[in-house]
Amino acid sequence: MSEPIRVAVTGAAGQIAYSLLYSIARGEVFGPTQPVVMTLLDIAPMMGVLNGVVMELMDCALPLLSNVIPTDDPEVAFANVDAAILVGAMPRREGMERKDLLKANVKIFMVQGKALDKVAKKNVKVLVVGNPANTNALITKKFAPSIPKENFTAMTRLDQNRAQAQIAARCAVPCNSVRNVIIWGNHSSTQFPDVRHAVVSKDGKDLPVYDAVKDDAWLKGDFITTVQKRGAAVIAARKLSSAMSAAKGIVDHMKDWWAGTKEGEYVSMGVISDGNTYGVGKDLIFSFPCKVAADHSYQVVGGLDIDTFSREKLDITAKELTEERDDAYAFLEVDSNL
Ligand SMILES: NC(=O)c1ccc[n+]([C@@H]2O[C@H](COP(=O)([O-])OP(=O)(O)OC[C@H]3O[C@@H](n4cnc5c(N)ncnc54)[C@H](O)[C@@H]3O)[C@@H](O)[C@H]2O)c1
Repeated sequence: MSEPIRVAVTGAAGQIAYSLLYSIARGEVFGPTQPVVMTLLDIAPMMGVLNGVVMELMDCALPLLSNVIPTDDPEVAFANVDAAILVGAMPRREGMERKDLLKANVKIFMVQGKALDKVAKKNVKVLVVGNPANTNALITKKFAPSIPKENFTAMTRLDQNRAQAQIAARCAVPCNSVRNVIIWGNHSSTQFPDVRHAVVSKDGKDLPVYDAVKDDAWLKGDFITTVQKRGAAVIAARKLSSAMSAAKGIVDHMKDWWAGTKEGEYVSMGVISDGNTYGVGKDLIFSFPCKVAADHSYQVVGGLDIDTFSREKLDITAKELTEERDDAYAFLEVDSNL
């Protein structure tokens, strides 16, 4: 058995974490022989609930789980961590303005960015899930300048999984017969689920999705809006936001980042844009198709053709992210204490 790695999960007393922690502790993310120490962060009023979660994790009797440390202190949670999964965020309350929500989250992710900068390993892999995930990841990065900017990512894997599942159902194939679906942009209703480069394996043959589905109007219409609005549809039905599927998205994202993507496949990750890729402005955490190598390094897949339809959609989501970033930075300028 190798030395344990340290993995922090924030929002650990919440509903996504409740679906996620077991998967991490039993080796689904970092591998079936990799022991883990899990540090679980939540806010002080949730420590009682969090202790219940710790008891349950212990009662799972999982051999890979070396230790569990619950805390309400980010510097304890992030001490020497190899991976940090930032799920906890300020939820939108009734009557709350979008800007107030953004401001509250800027503060949370500023504090957590500073703590990561101070105490985490310099090669820590950070996945931000708490919404607005892309901008929260950008703020975390901004306050952790000693950690490479590539190490901050936001989750759009749930969106990718949703899109993949829609195509698989339409083609009557298992979900893993659909590959290279791309989510571009923000994890929000402006995201662009793009299947122009995606492939379906059916009856031993690989077909472009457009040829397999044979319904361009659906692919350019209802398919896109179904994926964009899926989160809202789950909330309307469940009266709670996606949790099981969000946890699965986290597992998929982190597992691929840790172990590498399969040959010939790419996955969507919100990563820092350099200003030279697919016409997206710099200093945004934007979801791109990415390939990950076995050493955990990733690259945005280049050279995919962007037609006029796609260009328009990429620009809409980039515009939203730029506005969100500018609002977030404006809060920091006006109120340095936040
Ligand atoms: N990126 C995605 O695909 C995706 C998908 C689903 C949900 N989400 C987002 O994930 C977040 C969590 O969702 P949930 O359903 O688990 O919510 P939840 O309300 O059940 O749990 C959130 C937990 O975070 C904690 N928390 C709040 N502020 C914190 C802080 N500063 N530090 C540590 N913990 C803190 C809360 O106390 C709570 O226990 C939400 O922002 C949600 O919108 C993202």
